[in-house]
Amino acid sequence: MLESIEKLRKAFDEALAKVSDNDELEKLRVAFLGKKGAVTDSMKELKNMDNEARKEFGKEINVLKDNIDSAIRSFADKMMNAQIEKQIEQARKFDFTVPSSQPEGSLHPITLVQRRIEEIFKSMGFIIEDGIEIQTEYNNFEAVNIPKNHPARDMQDTYYLSNGQLLKTHTSAAQNYIMRKYGAPKKGEPPLKVLFPGRCFRNENIDACHENTFWQMEGMMIGEDISISNLIYFMKVLLSEVFERDVKVRLRPGFFPFVEPGFELDINCLICGGEGCPTCKNSGWLELLPCGMIHPNVLKMGGIDHDKYTGFAFGLGLTRLAMMKYEITDIRVLNSGNLKALKQFVS
Ligand code: DAH
Repeated sequence: MLESIEKLRKAFDEALAKVSDNDELEKLRVAFLGKKGAVTDSMKELKNMDNEARKEFGKEINVLKDNIDSAIRSFADKMMNAQIEKQIEQARKFDFTVPSSQPEGSLHPITLVQRRIEEIFKSMGFIIEDGIEIQTEYNNFEAVNIPKNHPARDMQDTYYLSNGQLLKTHTSAAQNYIMRKYGAPKKGEPPLKVLFPGRCFRNENIDACHENTFWQMEGMMIGEDISISNLIYFMKVLLSEVFERDVKVRLRPGFFPFVEPGFELDINCLICGGEGCPTCKNSGWLELLPCGMIHPNVLKMGGIDHDKYTGFAFGLGLTRLAMMKYEITDIRVLNSGNLKALKQFVS
């Protein structure tokens, strides 16, 4: 009987020598130690043996079982170590210090301006939020006080999707979501201050100053005593920090359904110095920062008590701001993917 154990051992050793991967090793384990495996089968013979033979055979077959088990484990370890060694070897071949033959990348001018403004506002306690690009009609229009059939919808030539949603036409589309997410500040808390940049889409005829895909940066501050003075203060800080020089601005009344009163904050064209050029449509001024006090309806729809709280909002034309800051005369450059043109800006 003991010969059969020796035979099994030999058969196992020979089979193990041929194993080259984990699958084969597992098959071998099943063939010997599995429910219907060779070792398990031999063990079933025990019940037919007399006491003496059972004792001797039982001992030997258990030794074999343990040996096979540990041989399989150490083989698996060996294979794993070999694999790790191979990976390390491959990683060593990759020399991170070799200069790349690829041209070096750079940040897009809009990204540069976006990050700069985020820094400025973060230092004043603003939270940065992100807005999704595919929006519901409700968020884009109704929730900011532009009901169905309101003429203000015509000013934003909208790309509708076949599922009834749309590509957001302005960052204001995130106002309702943000109001609901954070709510009004509780007693003793500072005002809610949020900045939310985003890409917007309108079906524009493209020329030097119009694009169908452009960036805006929206901001909101909501609290118990927020007034136009707060609005003007934050807008002044923003512009002087971004341009790092004195810029001429003018504030004039402007209509937007989601603010009351609403303003247009224009900046003197930095490309022509106010003389008039294609970028400013020969007016010497560029509409850069529409803003105003958030309309009570908008607060209400955002779940905020409009008797108790007030707030301001602004919708900065980030694309325009980047053009002004870097004196880019044609908006089309920004989406062109022309690295030669886009690489030259550093913050
Ligand atoms: N959403 C407006 C637009 O794209 C811009 C805007 C105007 C945003 C006034 C505001 C605001 O938050 O107060 O035309």
